[in-house]
Amino acid sequence: MRARSTMMWAAGTVLSLGLLSAVTGLTGCEKKAPAPAAPSTTTAPATTDVAKAEATKSDAPAAAPVAAAAPSGDAILIGHYGSLTGSEATFGQSTSNGIRLAIKEANAKGGVLGRPVALKEYDTRGDAGEAKLAVERLVKSDKVTAVLGEVASKLSLAGGPVCQEAGVPMITPSSTNPKVTEIGDYVFRVCFIDPFQGFAGAKFARETLKAEKAAVLVDQAQAYAVGLAEQFELNFKAKGGEIVTTQNYTGGAQDFTSQLTSIRAAKPDVIYIPGYYTDVGNIAIQARRLGITKPMLGGDGWDSDQLAKIAGDAIEGSYYTNHYAPDQPDAKVQDFIKAYRAEFGGATPDGLAALGYDAAKILFEAMERAKTTDGKALRDAIAATKNFGGVTGNITIDANRNATKSAVVVEMAGNPPAPSYVTTVEPQ
Ligand code: PHE
Repeated sequence: MRARSTMMWAAGTVLSLGLLSAVTGLTGCEKKAPAPAAPSTTTAPATTDVAKAEATKSDAPAAAPVAAAAPSGDAILIGHYGSLTGSEATFGQSTSNGIRLAIKEANAKGGVLGRPVALKEYDTRGDAGEAKLAVERLVKSDKVTAVLGEVASKLSLAGGPVCQEAGVPMITPSSTNPKVTEIGDYVFRVCFIDPFQGFAGAKFARETLKAEKAAVLVDQAQAYAVGLAEQFELNFKAKGGEIVTTQNYTGGAQDFTSQLTSIRAAKPDVIYIPGYYTDVGNIAIQARRLGITKPMLGGDGWDSDQLAKIAGDAIEGSYYTNHYAPDQPDAKVQDFIKAYRAEFGGATPDGLAALGYDAAKILFEAMERAKTTDGKALRDAIAATKNFGGVTGNITIDANRNATKSAVVVEMAGNPPAPSYVTTVEPQ
């Protein structure tokens, strides 16, 4: 089980999903997030610096910075929008930390285009209306050079059109729903997409867990969960498996008894739950209480240290597909973990931190290649990213602005349960 193995991906059907949006007020948008354990020194300049930074952006020196020379001139301002609070708070916090570490390292090496990089960040609170407003502020008021975010596909679907309209490149580190990059030619991602992630989950369930019957439990309010469930089902059936029941819930629900009772009656070998960690933690506890002992299997939305904190033992022996595992022996992974721990009080980075870090580094590398921060030139340079050696794998941006990369499967193992590397699934 622990041996590294390789699986291949056959492209599945790409889903078409509507954008689920909610409109809310602007409250809280500009507040600095309380939680990310990051020093404010690597963060944004005061808002007054923004105009100055932008006014001089075309004067950036074309020559590559001399290594270790202090960056000079006005800062290159980049934006981040993420869920820094709310039930997906670790998504935004981890991403923010990864971005801050990349900025700190870039600035220590002479900056980007010889200039320091600064960050402006807004909390989306996990809300689509807030996400849209945050991106409007970043591109219209703050006039950032590029935008990083969001994590949740639904929120990237809300923010992406604003970047596209404004001609400001956006890179989502971690939104995996296919629709996100279909927004337009200014929207990129550095992660794989859910047709592949669904394939990887189904392949693991059928071939490693030897599951013949699967039940599926879906957060119907998240584009991510709906899309991933569909891709899992498609691939599980294509491999000769049977979907014995599909049950729905709405993120934030507290009682899953009726869905879990139906699932128990259907006698699955595995339960696929492509949701986010807070709900998954609650589901796991209730499933075990109802006497369901079969393994649960999920996607990257499980990736948070909060999952084990909420679920405890109930999540032990379950699995999820992800972008990275902290116990991968790869030197790039281990160097990143060391630097991250030193920066953030010994915390082990999750996949979001690793993806945030990779997204920021890809952006900086594209700026150096473009020799400018002009939106169109920067867009073309990001699109030309090839074989970038990231913490989350080798990243090449394809013609659809997606990254073709491998996925890992991790097991929640040990006491308390923590993600432990099981296998790698390679794309075709
Ligand atoms: N892939 C999820 C989405 O698109 C977000 C996510 C990525 C969550 C990685 C956790 C880890 O909504």
